[in-house]
Amino acid sequence: MNLLSIVGAGPGAIDLMTVRAHERIKNAEVLVWTDSLIPKKILQIAPIDCECITTSSLTLEEILSLLIDRHKKGKKIVRLHDGDPCLYGAISEQICGLAEAGIQVEVIPGVSAYQATAAALNTELTIPGEIQTIVLSRAGGRTGMPEREKLQNLASIRASLCLYLSARHVKEVERTLLNYYPSDTPVAIGHRVSWDDQSLKVVPLSEMAASSIKQKLIRTTLYLISPALKGHKKRSKLYEVSHSHLFRSSAQ
Ligand SMILES: C[S@@+](CC[C@H](N)C(=O)[O-])C[C@H]1O[C@@H](n2cnc3c(N)ncnc32)[C@H](O)[C@@H]1O
Repeated sequence: MNLLSIVGAGPGAIDLMTVRAHERIKNAEVLVWTDSLIPKKILQIAPIDCECITTSSLTLEEILSLLIDRHKKGKKIVRLHDGDPCLYGAISEQICGLAEAGIQVEVIPGVSAYQATAAALNTELTIPGEIQTIVLSRAGGRTGMPEREKLQNLASIRASLCLYLSARHVKEVERTLLNYYPSDTPVAIGHRVSWDDQSLKVVPLSEMAASSIKQKLIRTTLYLISPALKGHKKRSKLYEVSHSHLFRSSAQ
């Protein structure tokens, strides 16, 4: 059966892509890609005669119609999304539309922007006993947020908070977060993380909006708000001498 591959491209750097994703692109006959969020460089992996189609100006119906058309022609198709497809990838509507046309898909995961940002900072987003939760979300914007997921509700637990798609609303975001996190909480502002022109800086929460606006950031920007970015020396239980578990008995 000729499966259509929905592939996570990762954050942008070619070598942050999974081997499976790389392999699917290398063998693609048709590559339908999210050109607004993926660097063109990634197309170098595709065969020279691969048909590459950009989606930034297309509607869902137009995308589906060309995927269905190329599938009928027996082509190996890759639908390439930035980061991991399960996060703001709008893949469900594509999978449903394709299923209605009798086309089955496989989904190949990718490194998401929050992971690339944390890695670029050499940091861990969880701290033993202090922060054990990572929230992945966004500011409302035109898509809107369900009432229970409003930023104030998410901020009130003071977890490591990763905000996608939020640069246009940064002033409002900062204002809301300051009601919950201390004003000196570190905020990483990552723009095109892992791209050749990556910009990544860490500022106190009270400077989040000013810094972002000064850099004129609107798109491809991730905010990572977390006390964990301060660094810490808390030890985990797992590697504690007195802690026994399935693979190691306690030293005491
Ligand atoms: C439509 S969402 C898709 C997210 C993607 N599926 C992921 O897992 O990273 C696009 C948003 O992801 C974030 N993003 C994606 N790639 C990024 C990168 N390389 N650097 C910073 N932010 C990025 C930005 O917030 C951007 O507006």
